[in-house]
Amino acid sequence: MRTHYCGELNSALIGQDVVLCGWVHRRRDHGGVIFVDLRDREGLVQVVLDPDRAEVFALAEQARSEYVLRVEGRVRPRPEGTVNPDLPTGEVEVLGTGLTILNAAETPPFQLDTHSADTSEEVRLRYRYIDLRRPEMQERLRVRSRVTRVMRNYLDDHGFLDIETPILTKSTPEGARDYLVPSRTHPGEFFALPQSPQLFKQLLMMSGMDRYYQVARCFRDEDLRADRQPEFTQLDIEVSFMTEDELMGLMEEMIRRLFKEVLDTDLPDPFPRLTYQEAMRRYGSDKPDLRIPLELVDVGDLMVGVDFKVFAGPAQDPKGRVVALCLPKGCDLSRKEIDDYTKFVGIYGARGLAYIKVNDWSTKGAEGLQSPILKNLNAAAIDGIMARTGAVDGDLIFFGADQASVVNEAIGALRVRLGQDRGLMASGWRPLWVVDFPMFEHDAANNRWAALHHPFTAPKEDQLGLLETDPGACLSRAYDMVLNGSEIGGGSIRIHRDAVQRQVFSLLNISEQQAEDRFGFLLRALRFGCPPHGGVAFGLDRLVMLMTGAASIRDVMAFPKTQTAACLMTSAPSPVDEAQLKELGLRIRARV
Ligand code: AMO
Ligand code: AMP
Repeated sequence: MRTHYCGELNSALIGQDVVLCGWVHRRRDHGGVIFVDLRDREGLVQVVLDPDRAEVFALAEQARSEYVLRVEGRVRPRPEGTVNPDLPTGEVEVLGTGLTILNAAETPPFQLDTHSADTSEEVRLRYRYIDLRRPEMQERLRVRSRVTRVMRNYLDDHGFLDIETPILTKSTPEGARDYLVPSRTHPGEFFALPQSPQLFKQLLMMSGMDRYYQVARCFRDEDLRADRQPEFTQLDIEVSFMTEDELMGLMEEMIRRLFKEVLDTDLPDPFPRLTYQEAMRRYGSDKPDLRIPLELVDVGDLMVGVDFKVFAGPAQDPKGRVVALCLPKGCDLSRKEIDDYTKFVGIYGARGLAYIKVNDWSTKGAEGLQSPILKNLNAAAIDGIMARTGAVDGDLIFFGADQASVVNEAIGALRVRLGQDRGLMASGWRPLWVVDFPMFEHDAANNRWAALHHPFTAPKEDQLGLLETDPGACLSRAYDMVLNGSEIGGGSIRIHRDAVQRQVFSLLNISEQQAEDRFGFLLRALRFGCPPHGGVAFGLDRLVMLMTGAASIRDVMAFPKTQTAACLMTSAPSPVDEAQLKELGLRIRARV
């Protein structure tokens, strides 16, 4: 039907007859001559239609935005002075000699030839097929396709088998709610869509597959954010007979190759590693953005005896934490800006945001400090704060004091916010591994332990005893890959012994009976010759979002869902026929 893509034409083709197919990006009538910018996947080219060919010209006059055309013509140089250096095809144009309108189009709901910023995302999502015609959307999906290709190639080169696992299955717990699918053949019973292929990939190791991967769709009914979707894609991986160091080495080599091939960027070799504890201590986060030079500094020990309950309380509480965060040149922050940051940390539960402005410490000492809390601190505390933070004249020191979890979240988030607001973010890519996660976190509301990763993650071999004596202190063999403040992948070495798995279930308040009902197949499989194994899953959407610089995960998915987990284009979810419900043995009742 065609000989070339529009975007392919250049001066090497001058004089050649071509046939193009594409969409009318823009049509301009210029004193008897019609210009059509014809667009396809590869780009735009200008087509010129003159009245010498009356029939062709008449058709061109009918063409409107987004009409689909087939154009025959000859490539020629653009007249002097009309070359467009911003357009890859800008040195040439096509003199149209034949034209077919393949299809008309209604007036599109938004213009594709202007910036999309003024088009609401709602309209873009409702008319996603039109939105996807925009070059930046096409480019993102193209990068996405290259990303999966490079990773698939790498895994194929390293002996991994691509194996599919079921979508209609049993609950695979990853900490979110399940999407359920009612069974017609087993009335009253439900499948769960997989939150990940976790258990199946472990079973594949028990089947001797040795190295597995899958570009796997996962479903999680959880609160959505800019980097989360209810339905998303993992590059899911599992291997047998590898230590965590071997697997992490292989995986970071894959990510290095990915960045080299797709972005021509060299990532560090090896990636730095931080323990969970150190990451929380220095950054208040287990996914620290290392591009930001700010760090949290513990000052609790200096505050134990001060006459200021806000600080002394958490300082004396084993679960409390008091930290300082020094913002270089922060003295110029206005009262309003500080109030705004105080509101910001409030979102994370902080009840205030104390600060000290270091106006002139070098010559005036404590006299040169300005702060609402200065009167509450003794000289030793002030000296200690100044020494530890290394603050100098012109800096501002923020403080967080509360339960450690609140301080970490609030001041960790403030660190990132300040990094962005104050232009402190270094450019480039800062990957790292976070390792030595605790096995469990304590769920205070329900007074029970919860798995920090998932219930199949192995404890460190030399810490098995702690499962009995001090589960909170037991570290796991889990690892997360973090890139510029985003968790792009996570995994672990798994429990491969039945007894340990039972012990962990029991710690997680899963009774023997529940364990049997929910995971009996896994527990049985562990007893039939299960090799030591482990794996990882990368969040493909998140990775592509970072690599393309997209602001939202929705911008790297062809057909994403909204924040309320709906598809505006198809209007899913939607009610179903009474007959269908009946067949499934279901009746809808009002939500209580
Ligand atoms: P995890 O739950 O950490 O691990 O998920 C792995 C990676 O998937 C991405 N991710 C998401 N991306 C978009 N939307 C979401 N709702 C979403 N949730 C997670 C993240 C995350 O790092 N089975 C384990 C892996 C393993 O142990 O091998 C798992 O699913 O980038
Ligand atoms: P107050 O004594 O409540 O007026 O607080 C004095 C200063 O301490 C104010 O600047 C508050 O913002 C700050 N502040 C109060 N609670 C906290 C907290 N939990 N962490 C850090 N700063 C706090």
